[in-house]
Amino acid sequence: MRLSRRSLLAQSAGFASLSLLPNMARAAPAQRKVIFDTDPGIDDAMALLLLHGTPNIELVGITTAAGNGLIDTTTHNALYLAERFRIDVPVSKGQGASLDGVTSSPPVTIHGRNALGDIPLSAVHKKLDPRPAHDLIIDLVRANPHEITLVATGHMTNLALALRKAPDIASLVKDVVLMGGAFGHHDARGNVTPAAEANFHGDPRAADEICAARWPVTIVGLDVTTQTLMTDAYFENLRQHGGQSGRFLWDITRVYMTFHRGLGLDGIYVNDASAAAYVIAPELFKTQKGAVRVSTEGVTLGESVQKADSRVYPPGDWDNRPSVQICTEVDAEGVRSLFRKAVFQMA
Ligand code: BDR
Ligand code: CA
Repeated sequence: MRLSRRSLLAQSAGFASLSLLPNMARAAPAQRKVIFDTDPGIDDAMALLLLHGTPNIELVGITTAAGNGLIDTTTHNALYLAERFRIDVPVSKGQGASLDGVTSSPPVTIHGRNALGDIPLSAVHKKLDPRPAHDLIIDLVRANPHEITLVATGHMTNLALALRKAPDIASLVKDVVLMGGAFGHHDARGNVTPAAEANFHGDPRAADEICAARWPVTIVGLDVTTQTLMTDAYFENLRQHGGQSGRFLWDITRVYMTFHRGLGLDGIYVNDASAAAYVIAPELFKTQKGAVRVSTEGVTLGESVQKADSRVYPPGDWDNRPSVQICTEVDAEGVRSLFRKAVFQMA
């Protein structure tokens, strides 16, 4: 029998835990650089903590988007979260209105008036990066060619503006992961209109332009985010054993839980944290490839529709667009366990 160098090392160590082996014998998990474009937002805060609490994720910047609050609110919240959880990266303010100049009303019954579940927020001392969000994205992507994953979980105006100003970044990012859209898998439809999911509805033109660019995009839509629920018992466990982050998560999810109970659910949908989970553990998801269009007008405003690569249609509006991956299935227990692990890691 041939033994690998790793097995021989383990044997000579008397089968001691492999974690005691010298570093050279262990495969270090590859480091992933992430820019998080976000509208915190309760589930945005969850996604941020998941990214921050995962050792092989290196957050390199946070850019703010409109959505769960007006841009001043989400920007304040992003600075608050970065300061409170010692996430020492530039935070830069994004656009308050969509590409078409629309400012949406925040969903106060879902995220609270301060967009973080109406918990008291202390004063923030951390300063904003002076660059607008799309410029910070461009600078960071150019400074780290082929290394950065862009994760967007709010209205996607900043990404679209970055692309318009610097189309070269499309070939310089590693990949793009969006929380947005609904494609009818598991009967997922819109959550702000019967047709549209909130992030795509808030800036449908931006979402459509992002899906038209020649960069690798994965969409984590309502098809999968509504398949993962986190119950009160789940958050109680985090509150008991997850240190400061666990207690914070319990506090901010009270308003969100009440909203979901009103939908007849025994737990909250895991929207933005599912996008973060995809970045960390894509094996928890099944995907389907095909061109994606987002409707920019009429009663279907913000609706997202994929033409699967496996289907053939007469010539139409999906032609000559890149293939985008959408998530169609998720291992919900895998996501819950990944999240729990990240929170406990920070405790
Ligand atoms: C998305 O909309 C926002 O309310 C959430 O933060 C999430 O990004 C879900 O449709
Ligand atoms: Ca969000």
